Amino acid sequence: MNANNRPQISIYIAASIDGYIARKDNSLDWLDRVGGFDEDYGFKKLLDSIDTLIIGRKTYEIAITVPDPYPGKRVVVLSNILHSVREGMELYRGDLTELVSKLHREGVNHIWVDGGVTISQFLASHMVDTMTLGIIPIILGEGLPLFNVIGKEIPCRLLSSQSYSSGLVQLNYELIKEFTPMKDKIHFKIVDFGSDDYKKSVSLREEILRKPLGITFAQAELEWEKDPIHIAGFLGQELCATAVLVPVGNAVKMQRVVTKSSFQNKGIGSLMMAFCEEYAQKQGYKSVYCHARGTAIPFYLKNQYALEGEPFDEDGIPHHKMKKVINAEGQCAEIE
Ligand SMILES: NC(=O)c1ccc[n+]([C@@H]2O[C@H](COP(=O)([O-])OP(=O)(O)OC[C@H]3O[C@@H](n4cnc5c(N)ncnc54)[C@H](OP(=O)(O)O)[C@@H]3O)[C@@H](O)[C@H]2O)c1
Repeated sequence: MNANNRPQISIYIAASIDGYIARKDNSLDWLDRVGGFDEDYGFKKLLDSIDTLIIGRKTYEIAITVPDPYPGKRVVVLSNILHSVREGMELYRGDLTELVSKLHREGVNHIWVDGGVTISQFLASHMVDTMTLGIIPIILGEGLPLFNVIGKEIPCRLLSSQSYSSGLVQLNYELIKEFTPMKDKIHFKIVDFGSDDYKKSVSLREEILRKPLGITFAQAELEWEKDPIHIAGFLGQELCATAVLVPVGNAVKMQRVVTKSSFQNKGIGSLMMAFCEEYAQKQGYKSVYCHARGTAIPFYLKNQYALEGEPFDEDGIPHHKMKKVINAEGQCAEIE
């Protein structure tokens, strides 16, 4: 179940480059182009994660050409014209929101929705959470379309993309229910020491952190910055936030976190933090910590950082160590 108080709903489908999911005669032979590469494109993972399928009648008719197409799964077939479906499957016609509520009441957790007409209806109902699209390296020229008219604009956030040696490109999207302009427009990235983006980051840090104290970064401090990881957030070409990550044993110290004045109080600090944590997690670090100024402690607490040890003085300003465990085994002590 997800935050919407209904089962999670996913789309997982393959299409040709020109957006068809089957030939006009329903044949799927062109999918063989990406078969036999010792790769299942995450299909087993999908099947393991779902408990129920909702499929359109036309997908059902193709699916039942094999004996047990979805072993162990509850299958609901949508049709206005069928009077019965294969034993063990269920037939439904009517409102999809009501169907999903019914399945929710019956304990369903995760639904895979399949069939072109069917997925378009679910998209129009704003009930889809994630969509995995496998683009097959072929232009079919004609066929059954992936999407019918949905009649609504739905912003999507790319969660990941992967290309395979077979030529299949898989795109994994989250469908955005509530579009938050900042979250969806800011682009975070790692910048190289000495690059133009790095120099912009130094200027921003100087502006926010040093100017108020009447000092600038000393050459030795900047020399030290050769080793750490530099993160920057951009809105278009405009730099709006930066941070420096310093690996310390199995932890990462997050420091020099700065948001440009005109971008403050817009949630960018939290987005930067989330990016840093994700980066550290992918690199295998166990925790992220920082030395927070007293005024910043509530912000870190809000982002699940815990206070560690006693407060201390840094540059004449009271600070406190705050730490967040990002990998389960990270409960172990840091090597510092
Ligand atoms: N490339 C892939 O990964 C992939 C994946 C899935 C399917 N496919 C292929 O795509 C083709 C089928 O897709 P499709 O877009 O033509 O159709 P579909 O979505 O599988 O089926 C559409 C049918 O579902 C029924 N339906 C949908 N919503 C309904 C509702 N709310 N209430 C009652 N009935 C509802 C209607 O059936 P009635 O006409 O009976 O009323 C409608 O005609 C097949 O060839 C299949 O093999 C390919």
